[in-house]
Amino acid sequence: MQLVNGKKHLLGIAGMSQALVLNLLDNALELADVSDREIKKVPSLRGKTIINLFLEPSTRTRSSFEIAAKRLSADTINVGASDSSVLKGESLLDMAWTLQAMRPDVIVVRHKNSGSAQFLAQHLKQSSIVNAGDGMHEHPTQALLDALSLKQYYIERPQGITGLKVAIVGDIVHSRVARSNILLHQILGNQITLVAPPTLLPDDFALSYPGVQISNNLGEGLQDADVVIVLRMQLEREAGGFVPSLQEYSREFCVSEKILNLVAPNSVILHPGPINRGLEISGEVADGERSLIARQVTNGIAVRMAVLFELTTGQNVIADEDRGNG
Ligand code: CP
Repeated sequence: MQLVNGKKHLLGIAGMSQALVLNLLDNALELADVSDREIKKVPSLRGKTIINLFLEPSTRTRSSFEIAAKRLSADTINVGASDSSVLKGESLLDMAWTLQAMRPDVIVVRHKNSGSAQFLAQHLKQSSIVNAGDGMHEHPTQALLDALSLKQYYIERPQGITGLKVAIVGDIVHSRVARSNILLHQILGNQITLVAPPTLLPDDFALSYPGVQISNNLGEGLQDADVVIVLRMQLEREAGGFVPSLQEYSREFCVSEKILNLVAPNSVILHPGPINRGLEISGEVADGERSLIARQVTNGIAVRMAVLFELTTGQNVIADEDRGNG
């Protein structure tokens, strides 16, 4: 969470403390229970209004933000690129000012340009902004839901989700998911290896993240990993032009059961979706025992509930005395 002009926003993982990340995950874990009830609704955000402003395509993030808001009893509306005045040439800022005039408590924004969430936070004084993915910059709720999925998986592990060996594989240069996950696993004190061909992982990229290792070889980069985060080849961002051919990329970097059994037999697999089966990940891995992909989608709702709750109420889901802090 970031404060801009005295208002709280979620613009990125950058700048978050370990305590804040763990607190959000605890709150999300508590709220996950709502989705398992027969009546999947609590009144916590009754009277609050959330606008989902999605100016780039999305299935998971947009629908889970809407479901999250509805499970908390907030009112929601969705505004997309193809059904809004973007088509008439309205600028992002003019559109956001217009929406803010309708008094929403939160505007959730996805936009193709890096920095667009921060830009809106600086210009809008009355609404909190949530970054639902801005260009190649950050996708903070994706990294948080990934971490929640690991927290559930490693529930019996004494160190929880710290001290893990995490490999992030694939189209790193174009990936906001990679950037948010690198920052989050640095906050947690995990060991991170980035794995990709040099064209998808330039040297100057790694320089931005001290302590992060890089490898241009899949077998070497995945060696002994606990967690493998596989990234989608972002073909809409011309990622195909960064490799000799997609067949060549698949041959060298597709994450398969064979390579995992060889070098990281105990690893679990995350993928933000949508997946390119047979390109960056085999169908066998995506649908297999070690895959947490379906759990990630389910957890998107709980994490987004926790974020909306925190931004609109400023309170913890779990009372401090119940945490033993009272
Ligand atoms: N992971 C993710 O952001 O998916 P969508 O583009 O479908 O929202």
